[in-house]
Amino acid sequence: MVLLHRAALAAITGVAGYAAWGGWAVISVANLPDHFEAGSPYRIEYTVRQHGVTLLGGLTGAVLMRAEAAGSVAPLETRAQAGATTGRYVATITVPDADRVTLIIKSGFSGGGWGDLTLLSIPVVRAGQARPVPTPAERGRQLFVAKGCGTCHVNGDVPEFASMNRVMGIAPELTGRRLEAAYVRQRLTNPSSLPAIGNSPVRMPDLGLTPAEVEALVGLVSGPSDRAGL
Ligand code: HEC
Repeated sequence: MVLLHRAALAAITGVAGYAAWGGWAVISVANLPDHFEAGSPYRIEYTVRQHGVTLLGGLTGAVLMRAEAAGSVAPLETRAQAGATTGRYVATITVPDADRVTLIIKSGFSGGGWGDLTLLSIPVVRAGQARPVPTPAERGRQLFVAKGCGTCHVNGDVPEFASMNRVMGIAPELTGRRLEAAYVRQRLTNPSSLPAIGNSPVRMPDLGLTPAEVEALVGLVSGPSDRAGL
């Protein structure tokens, strides 16, 4: 009951927010690496969906890279090119020698300030160094941000991101939720097979996640106990 009530409330505030923002987009990184190797090129692909649905072509976007290193490194910006299909963009970046980098996807979509997506920082290794293996919860948090889940959902279990999107309120809050794994998997891979929740102007989109990405995200919002693994 409490959750239904919360979802209904979120939907009501969302209708107002939706109208006020005029336009917004969900940016979703297609192939998020779990680490970078310094000096190696990476092809970062992302999609831009207006209102979480319509793939938007013709944007002039870029990937901005902020490095955390001993000496400060100026942010590097790489222009994105149109990808293979409409609404898909590609930028090839080379990560500098740093401890971690933060990528900011600047989609070029100007609606209501929703055009940029700042990812959580990603570790960088030097040639010959051991590859870090993220825990499922770490990977889930990374993906929650990079896939644009946080554009629609508030999730306080991804604290770095939690404050950003309270204003939208168009999808159920996921903070502390321990939903059944099979149910979450179905919401992620075949959202139209399940009914709408509340009265939101949008539906949960199919973001074309890979099976490994689905499992990491399932780990974040499902599980036997509150905040397991976080
Ligand atoms: C465009 C907005 C949007 C995006 C982006 C989005 N969702 Fe959703 N999500 C919704 C809406 C709306 C619902 C409610 C179901 C419906 O109406 O389709 C929902 C439902 C859910 C549910 C079920 C919640 C419940 O209370 O039962 C889960 C879990 C979920 N989403 C996880 C995610 C994850 C993880 C991502 C990122 C991979 C994501 N969503 C991206 C809008 C979104």
